[in-house]
This record gives sequence, C-alpha cells and structure tokens, in this order.
Amino acid sequence: MDIVQITDLHLSKNKKNELHNINTYNSAKTVIEYVAKHEKSIDYLIITGDISEDSTMQSYSHLLDLLKPIKSNVYLMPGNHDSYEQIKLCCSRSTVKSDVFFSNDKWVIFMFNTKKEDSPNGFLKQDEMKIFKKLLSDNQNKNFMIFLHHHPVLIGSEYMDTMIIENAQLLIDLIKSHNNIKGVSWGHIHDVFETEINNAKLFSSPSTCFQSKPKSKAFNMDSNSYPGYRIINLDEKGMIETSVVRVKI
Ligand SMILES: [Fe+2]
Repeated sequence: MDIVQITDLHLSKNKKNELHNINTYNSAKTVIEYVAKHEKSIDYLIITGDISEDSTMQSYSHLLDLLKPIKSNVYLMPGNHDSYEQIKLCCSRSTVKSDVFFSNDKWVIFMFNTKKEDSPNGFLKQDEMKIFKKLLSDNQNKNFMIFLHHHPVLIGSEYMDTMIIENAQLLIDLIKSHNNIKGVSWGHIHDVFETEINNAKLFSSPSTCFQSKPKSKAFNMDSNSYPGYRIINLDEKGMIETSVVRVKI
C-alpha cells in the first residue's frame, strides 16, 4: 500500500492570505500538483489536519479545487485550526473521506481526530480509543498504521511541546503492548521528527507551507527548509518504508 501524507495547508477564505510571508494557497497548490505528477501510483492521499487556517467553508472549497489533479482516494482528519463540521460538510459533497479507519487484508489504517475544543492541544477521544482497541483485538493478524494531527511524543521544542496530545500515554502504552502497531505519523509541528517505540516507527511530515526550526524555545521560522510531503509504503510483511520529499516553491 502506497500512501502520501500531506499536512498543515492552512488555507484561508482569501486565497491571497500569507503566513510567515508564504501564500498558503499557492504553496499547497505547488505541493499537490507535484504529488499528482510524481506520485502517480499511490493508493491513498492522507491529509493530517490544519487544512484550514480560518475554518471557513470557502477554505475547504479551495481544498476540493486543489485536490482535482489527485486520482487516488483521499482521507482527512481535523487539526486544531479546523472545523470538524466543515470537514464533514466538505466530505459530504465530494469523494473525500473522513472515516476513522480503513483496512485491507494486511493493514488497518486508523485516523484519530485529536482536536480538543477551544484549545490548540491534542486529545485522544474515548469513543475513538474504544473503536481502536476493538480493532486491535479483532485484527491481531494485521498491522496497524496510525495518522493523527498532534504529536504523541515530546519533540524537544518548548513551545510546541505544550501542545502535545495531553493523554498520549494511552497510545504509547498500546504501542508498547502491541507488536503489530507499526507506525504513527502526524503533522502540526511543521517540522520532521522521527523516533521508534517498540515495533513502531513514529514520524511527522513537513507542512505544505512554512516550516518551523527544530528544538526551538519559541516559534522560529525555518527559512532553509522547503514545504514537502511524506511517502509511506506499507508492505505485505508488515514493514514500513518512508521518506520525506521537499518541493521548491
Ligand atoms: Fe496544528
């Protein structure tokens, strides 16, 4: 199974809107067109939140326009800037999906909604944890790949680490006790971070707009890093191959 992950598009109602001197619409357009041209054989495009900067209906309409060159299945989940209601609406009028999971005969792909109301922090919801645990117990012969918006481990950036998934330990405990959880990937940090816990590779994807300097006390724009995306290959034997692609804007 070949997946491309894009994240943190931060689209606004106004297509001319800039964040840290980057036009987020144009930047997302460049990355998505690059994916459409260079990653033709992918099965899924997964968007891990902060699709919108302002939660407006128009920003999600812009997303649907931008996704026109993509021929694969598209799944998305909310980030702290998103409106879950607008995401549901966006999915209801397109082929884009916001289901919590999908699977084949070897893998289960689970997508948590870590948005916490009125907070930039992440939080694992009880009902989704219940579904996830049931899938784990019903599919012991399958491997699990998880996508979510917020980071479940500390990344060493003081300001960003205040926004970690508050109850991430629930997920970390499951990774430690289940050898078939093979991967976890997130967005939100606008930076690439990679680590391992038990059998799982944990990693993030760069944003499609501005990048953040790693290991920073406060936010520091990383003007040396281009926007990008992550390629994730999940093989028949339960192994993950993954790499990051940067796109010059
Ligand atoms: Fe975020």
